[in-house]
Amino acid sequence: YIVSNHSEMDHSGCLPELIAKLKPEKVFASPMGVKALEAHFHIGGITPVKTGDELSLGNMTLSFIETKMLHWPDSMFSYLKEEELLFSQDAFGMHLATSCLFADENCEATMAHEFKTYFANILTPYSGQILKLLESFGQLKLPVKIVAPDHGPLWRGEGISHALEQYRIWSEQKPEARALVVYDTMWKSTASMANSIADGIRQHGGIKVDVIELSDSFRSDVATELLCAGIFAVGSPTLNNNLFPRTADALTYLKGLRFKNLLGAAFASYGWSGESLGQINDALKAMDVELLSEGIKVKYVPTAEDLSKCFDLGQQLAAALKNKLAAK
Ligand code: FEO
Repeated sequence: YIVSNHSEMDHSGCLPELIAKLKPEKVFASPMGVKALEAHFHIGGITPVKTGDELSLGNMTLSFIETKMLHWPDSMFSYLKEEELLFSQDAFGMHLATSCLFADENCEATMAHEFKTYFANILTPYSGQILKLLESFGQLKLPVKIVAPDHGPLWRGEGISHALEQYRIWSEQKPEARALVVYDTMWKSTASMANSIADGIRQHGGIKVDVIELSDSFRSDVATELLCAGIFAVGSPTLNNNLFPRTADALTYLKGLRFKNLLGAAFASYGWSGESLGQINDALKAMDVELLSEGIKVKYVPTAEDLSKCFDLGQQLAAALKNKLAAK
């Protein structure tokens, strides 16, 4: 038998070759998985299995749990009863190759970062479904000794409850006392504004601030830092009547990840027309970021007065987040 828990190509790319080589008696997938595998590889004859179905392997039993939209419609878990082993495909995974098989054998800081990076960049849009799945999975009361994702290390012991709890916390997307200031810059004008806004937030006290320059970072780094942040400030120069391309790239990517509960503001520098401020505001509104103002734009190079306004904007953002956190 072959069981396909997920049809995305990083899990299924070799399936046609595997079938040709092994000639399995049967290939199993969820009902949506059957359709997805047919559409990917133009093959038939795959047997659908639903939540609760069991498959006897002779000395062991596999049961199946559909996990729709965690993170594709076809996704499912397989549970090996006698070993109390859950094959969780993408869920609880990381984009990490390591020679240490279990998460608890790896560097704790690396695990924390990679686990969060994976969730932020792959699973955030499905936070609502994940909360429901965690609840229904908990009701099954399955004893689980090992959780084996398809990529990244395996979880065992206390690591399993830690992984489940992290998923619950991240799925709730409750804002924390953290701010993210993201910008790109041509001649350091937007960079100066970013640093003044960050100073304003920092000097208000009690809020951790991260500043990311997009020329030095991947868009996935921005997503990781944005998960559960409370403030998102974005800045860009105007280039040929448009956003700087890396800012547009990051905003397009982040919109798809559907982060929630963010307070934000835009800032921009420009030479003669200055469209970038409005374009950032539009992008932040499309992300449902609660904007504190129409933001700040500065012609060419910011003066001390301009930077003071940026500092004040940082202070306003910090005060608004503190009020919001206190109201909860
Ligand atoms: Fe959904 Fe690991 O791919």
